[in-house]
Amino acid sequence: MKNNSNKILNGDATELFKEIPDNSIDITFADPPFNLKKKYNGYKDSLEFEEYLEWCELWIKEMVRVTKPTGSIFIHNIPKWLTYYSSILNKYATFRHWISWDAPSSPMGKSLQPSHYGILYYVKDIKHTKFYELRYPHKRCRKCGYLLKDYGGKKQGLHPFGPLLSDVWTDIHRIKHNKYRDEHPCQLPIHLLERIILMSTDNSDIVLDPFMGTGTTAIASKRLGRNYIGFELDNKYVSIANDKLKYEQSNSKLGEFWVSFFLKDIISLRNVDWECLSEYYLLPQNNRAIDHTKIEFIDKKKIIKHFDLVINGNGKIKQDSMQQEFCNCP
Ligand SMILES: C[S@@+](CC[C@H](N)C(=O)[O-])C[C@H]1O[C@@H](n2cnc3c(N)ncnc32)[C@H](O)[C@@H]1O
Repeated sequence: MKNNSNKILNGDATELFKEIPDNSIDITFADPPFNLKKKYNGYKDSLEFEEYLEWCELWIKEMVRVTKPTGSIFIHNIPKWLTYYSSILNKYATFRHWISWDAPSSPMGKSLQPSHYGILYYVKDIKHTKFYELRYPHKRCRKCGYLLKDYGGKKQGLHPFGPLLSDVWTDIHRIKHNKYRDEHPCQLPIHLLERIILMSTDNSDIVLDPFMGTGTTAIASKRLGRNYIGFELDNKYVSIANDKLKYEQSNSKLGEFWVSFFLKDIISLRNVDWECLSEYYLLPQNNRAIDHTKIEFIDKKKIIKHFDLVINGNGKIKQDSMQQEFCNCP
């Protein structure tokens, strides 16, 4: 097992799982092929309905087997497949959340426009599972800076950084521009994985992803000081991932605290760390000011130097955009 740590193994996930002992992994995250005829380099994404589901049951059971009792199991897919995955997972683990990730996808013909992916969040032992509440920045109008959500008379109680994370994630966008993506049809944004990892693991924990693609989960784990194990069928994707990983460092921190960055901001932090992290920010005298003004860092230059190291460590900004919204301001 130690030999597999911080490696992406090239091969079939259902075979490679056999190398992983029971109850040995802190979290498992899977983003399997969606069986939607996506154009991968080698993999044919078009199994028969029953065949696809039988195959899914094999690796879902393996994910549960290898996850520690304190650990969590996450599976990302379109809602259709998640309904089947849930009925499998309900036999072996405990439901915690269905996270709705607001990210538009292609029109499907005569149907509602699909506008979210789901992330199933299951645990093995609900009483002993590791979980950290996260906060994300308030959503503001890009033009006028006001909060998009109307807090009515409760503005005095606003958290300076932002609300606690719910099970609906609207602030992370899929990678839209080709210049930011690898030669892969469905690469996930790194800060989506960072959010999951911050929420459910500690420093040095092990994260396993059986469908690693071009390495998103491995990069997020490495940036956050976690260990990873990946499986990936396609050697080309393994190579791309390893090339990127060479430039990554375990430094996604502010002071002593692991955080997730996007461009020049923190976009996920742990609620328990806020008291210490708040010392890096200039906080307003009156909390009502949060309604129209975003909090800024005290020493912007120092922090931005750190961001550049964390985000542009490999010389490229391999990040996606955040969702951007406007209010009805004139
Ligand atoms: C949806 S993509 C994962 C993308 C990844 N999350 C990323 O951000 O790059 C699914 C991946 O599973 C791989 N794959 C398909 N069948 C596999 C199998 N039996 N074992 C391991 N990997 C497999 C495909 O090559 C593809 O890269």
